[in-house]
Amino acid sequence: MPRIVFVRPEGESQEVEAAEGASAMRAALVGGVSGITADCGGEASCATCHVYVAEQWLDQVGGPGPDEDDMLDFAACQRQPNSRLSCQIRITDGLDGLVLTLPESQ
Ligand code: FES
Repeated sequence: MPRIVFVRPEGESQEVEAAEGASAMRAALVGGVSGITADCGGEASCATCHVYVAEQWLDQVGGPGPDEDDMLDFAACQRQPNSRLSCQIRITDGLDGLVLTLPESQ
């Protein structure tokens, strides 16, 4: 099972297992990662699952789709070039070890 590392803004990290095909957001919730509220349940319409993708994973994760791109403008913390909504990141075996940093707030 792929593993994802969530890094808190203060630097503390938490590793969780993610079912292939599930979203990174779902893996965080199932794994008990705090800092992702996911109010809309994964519909790309709340921006409370905002994460920053570690630079070395950017190519593999890819960029946001059009709807996600629009919604990222409403994130509580400023979006950055590596911002994604974690509900829109589908986990594959190739993303084993993915590092996602949580924003200060959602
Ligand atoms: Fe709402 Fe991701 S859970 S945008």
